[in-house]
Amino acid sequence: MPNAKISAVGCFVPPDVLTNDDLSRMVDTNDEWIATRTGIRERHIAGPETATSDMAVKAARQTLEKAGIPAAELDAIILCTVTPDMLFPSTACLVQDQLGASGAWGFDLIAACSGFVYGITVAAHLVSAGTHRKVLVIGADTMSRILDYTDRTTCILFGDGAGAFLIEPSDSPNEGFVGFANEIDGSGACFLNMPAGGSRRPASAETVAERQHYVKQAGPQVFKYAVRKMSELSETALRKYGIDPREVKMMIPHQANKRIIAATAERLGLPEENVIVNLDKYGNTTAATIPLATWDALEQGRLKKGDLVLFAAVGAGYTAGVNLWRWTY
Ligand code: UT7
Repeated sequence: MPNAKISAVGCFVPPDVLTNDDLSRMVDTNDEWIATRTGIRERHIAGPETATSDMAVKAARQTLEKAGIPAAELDAIILCTVTPDMLFPSTACLVQDQLGASGAWGFDLIAACSGFVYGITVAAHLVSAGTHRKVLVIGADTMSRILDYTDRTTCILFGDGAGAFLIEPSDSPNEGFVGFANEIDGSGACFLNMPAGGSRRPASAETVAERQHYVKQAGPQVFKYAVRKMSELSETALRKYGIDPREVKMMIPHQANKRIIAATAERLGLPEENVIVNLDKYGNTTAATIPLATWDALEQGRLKKGDLVLFAAVGAGYTAGVNLWRWTY
């Protein structure tokens, strides 16, 4: 069975920036509170004409360019998002069409902040089954479209962006996918969700008036779960594959809160230089945080061939996932 490797990375963030000071003119907050409680300084916000598929296509094109392959060679597109252009058709279909990926099938994967980790887990298995040679995994979210800019507890946290990995078979057993530990716990569904717009509460004048089409979060509950689960699941994954935490060269975590990341790194005994943090620039871009952070790690020359990389995320659902990959280039 072939193993799967990450052969190219790309990303896109919209040009407009919303700073903490900008937010302090919209809701009762300030730069100091946001920076100390979350680590976020600014986030990028999509203009009114830009939807999730537009950002996804830009990240996809950059990834294909890096890999030096035409879109027609793709076998599958997995689009991880909670902010699709529409509920159906899937945003994967819209992206496939815009890319001209004539040989690809694909689907949207809804797992909120763990979406990208689940997406690369699925892609690794499609490739190692020997049935797919080129799978594009995209994480893209336009969170600003589902944020209530009168609610200071949520609107300060999120930003918009997209990123992608190309997953291909590897010739070497010393690189690529090592393994995963993913889980869901639906008892946490009530703590982070968008209540209306689905079959339970379809859109109505009432749901709009009640502001039910926005992100609702019980911050402290989600925070406690994230701190515990991110380290627990990382330890589970490392143990499952017999890997000592000291072998982890880079942890690329979901970027929700610098305190969650710091607590996870501390529990795993990872020094700061082995952890990527870039939420100061982008905020929480949901499914896009991990490819955006991987892009930054590459730009900073912090990833080398053979490095053991730990991707970790926790999000709405609850969902949680950890992937271990040996870097390829
Ligand atoms: O990515 C998906 C998963 N999501 C997460 O991982 C997010 C997890 N949660 C968190 O990151 C944190 O819980 C938050 C950053 C959302 C909130 O931080 P916190 O330290 O848990 O604050 P809190 O909710 O306990 O609120 C503390 C105080 C409250 O005031 P009182 O009741 O103590 O007077 C809040 O009303 O801070 C107040 N507060 C704010 N003050 C200024 C809440 N939001 C703000 C704000 N600006 N934006």
